[in-house]
Amino acid sequence: MIFEKPSTRTRVSMEVAAVQLGAYPLALRREELQLGRGEPIKDTARVLSRYVDAIAARVYSHESLEEMAAYATVPVINMLSDVEHPLQALADAFTIKEKFGAIDRVKVVYVGDGRNNVAHSLLLVIAKLGGHIAVASPPALQPRRDVLEAARAAASETGATIELLEDPKEAVRGADVVYTDVWVSMGEEAEAEERRKLLQDYQVNAELMSLASNRAVFMHCLPAHRGEEVTDDVIEGPWSVVWDQAENRLHVQKAVLALILS
Ligand code: CP
Ligand code: NVA
Repeated sequence: MIFEKPSTRTRVSMEVAAVQLGAYPLALRREELQLGRGEPIKDTARVLSRYVDAIAARVYSHESLEEMAAYATVPVINMLSDVEHPLQALADAFTIKEKFGAIDRVKVVYVGDGRNNVAHSLLLVIAKLGGHIAVASPPALQPRRDVLEAARAAASETGATIELLEDPKEAVRGADVVYTDVWVSMGEEAEAEERRKLLQDYQVNAELMSLASNRAVFMHCLPAHRGEEVTDDVIEGPWSVVWDQAENRLHVQKAVLALILS
């Protein structure tokens, strides 16, 4: 496991998952490796492939992962890039199934930064599993075109529905899952002020939750910024399933590791 950015859930759940399965996890920060002194990713990938059975990486740029995967001769797992966060999305899908029994009869609404890793991976997983997803975000923060195209292609095979909206209130009407993520992702600190302005009307608060269905749950990948993308009464309130969602990272990643390594 190579980390270019901080992590609480992903690092600890992956490390515990590996140990519980009898594997030997090594968690390394980029600067502990020669990578931090300029050794190319392609060289690192080829060398590590001679020692380990899988490489997992959390990176700033998605291209770094693609280069790693192109040169590694063992599986490469995305532990979050600027474009996707697939392990999170798998745990999210599992959590929805756990709470509602199925994915296809559940309306998932993502509110906020629709252009970040978590939004993209949620869109992709719901599309692949035949669910219903609406993304409510300001025009400048709608999902990337390539991600949207991939999600729409999957939806045409699974019967999933995808809606893009601007108005969070309109989107949340009848929602079974209201999902949000931070307004400023890791690596976007320079745009923080601009993003907070763009997203100020996208806070998930009790008023917004009251428009959702009467069985609605609140989801967040965490870490959360109370008072920004979500209010304290929502994340601590009866809607919130965020702790189960975080726990599910461990179970789902064990499944991923078992699938990849056996
Ligand atoms: N949700 C998530 O990936 O959290 P960490 O950044 O703590 O790993
Ligand atoms: N979108 C957030 C997710 C953190 C788990 C980020 O990239 O910082």
